Amino acid sequence: KHCFSKSDDGHLYCEGLKVQELLDSFEQRPFYLYSKPQITRNCEAYREALQGLSSIIGYAIKANNNLKILEHLRRLGCGAVLVSGNELKLALRAGFDPKRCIFNGNGKLLEDLVLAAEEEVFVNVDSEFDLENIVTASRIAGKKVNVLLRINPDVDPQVHPYVATGNKNSKFGIRNEKLQWFLDAVKSHPNELKLVGAHCHLGSTITKVDIFKDAAVLMVNYIDEIRAQGFEIDYLNIGGGLGIDYHHSGAILPTPMDLINTVRKLVISRNLTLIIEPGRSLIANTCCFVNHVTGVKTNGTKNFIVVDGSMAELIRPSLYGAYQHIELISPPPSDAEVSVFDVVGPVCESADFLGKDRELPTPPKGAGLVVHDAGAYCMSMASTYNLKMRPPEYWVEDDGSVSKIRHAETFEDNLRFFEGL
Ligand code: LLP
Repeated sequence: KHCFSKSDDGHLYCEGLKVQELLDSFEQRPFYLYSKPQITRNCEAYREALQGLSSIIGYAIKANNNLKILEHLRRLGCGAVLVSGNELKLALRAGFDPKRCIFNGNGKLLEDLVLAAEEEVFVNVDSEFDLENIVTASRIAGKKVNVLLRINPDVDPQVHPYVATGNKNSKFGIRNEKLQWFLDAVKSHPNELKLVGAHCHLGSTITKVDIFKDAAVLMVNYIDEIRAQGFEIDYLNIGGGLGIDYHHSGAILPTPMDLINTVRKLVISRNLTLIIEPGRSLIANTCCFVNHVTGVKTNGTKNFIVVDGSMAELIRPSLYGAYQHIELISPPPSDAEVSVFDVVGPVCESADFLGKDRELPTPPKGAGLVVHDAGAYCMSMASTYNLKMRPPEYWVEDDGSVSKIRHAETFEDNLRFFEGL
């Protein structure tokens, strides 16, 4: 069951609510609309897949950092994956157990590492200087830090180069040839560092689970090697990266169960606790970005649908050429001509588009148009370019009512940055 569905007469529903009615009743536009029950279902899919394994689901907060969503995922049993001190602070605010949080990143700041050490979150070691900073942070905090080595397994995830991270020219992680240096460095800091595991993250939008299996085989070999040197390590962290069906083409994509099943035996054979770091696959398909059509125009040979949303609120199409499915939320007038359109926003850039070459019925002015699968890396990557203010977020609750879960930013919010200068 999926939260967004189209009725036979062409109306889009979210958990039984007509999206058109929501659009008509909300003042601010555009907006993000989530389904809380869908978040629950996505999380359940991971929990079911992980049954029988010792595991931590570390939700990658960068995908979506709405506090209400974080609290919900925490209640569902997730830990959190953090890439900045502010994400760590927000995770603490959302009530996550710090002992189920992992601090990742190639440029972690000393002050953030100190907070991580104080709170006793797991820290991934990314480089020589990162290790040095973690040692310093441990001394400042007066606490030993549980660390995992982020090893770059050099596996090609077969995705857009901007979201590939586990190949040899990536800025993330340590090269396996340097493994011994890191093991020796950990050994020489017995009061500051405790090595508890190994981590890798291959990339994002991965749609072939064999890639995870290949990486897990390599990682387990490293773990054997590390254990052979007397380290008692318990954690294998295989990162996040599972893709979703952005194309709505009906293609069968791997599920969390498929992903976990490719590594299950390996994890059990070494008596490991498995950490996974899903972002997109937990949250992307729980949300639509809801727009109004401002107008329709044709220039040269191109037809455009101009909407109120833009690359400022949703940058994935502009930045990665990403496809996100677009449709109208209500049936068009019966005489509406079907054409091929670029769906664009009002931002002063030719890169400002939400979709290219989409076959759609010509929408009337004011019609509702949604961009699907907008729960991950959309709001969290939104900007205020052209002084467009970040949009509000709503979700449909378990009882079918709708709540606002984030206020819209206002023009006055922006003026505040200049007060008292
Ligand atoms: N763990 C690490 C170390 C990561 O770098 C990432 C994502 C994740 C977990 C979560 O990956 P996921 O399960 O969400 O694929 N902005 C891009 C995606 C960037 C992903 C960065 N790292 C996009 O919009 O497609």
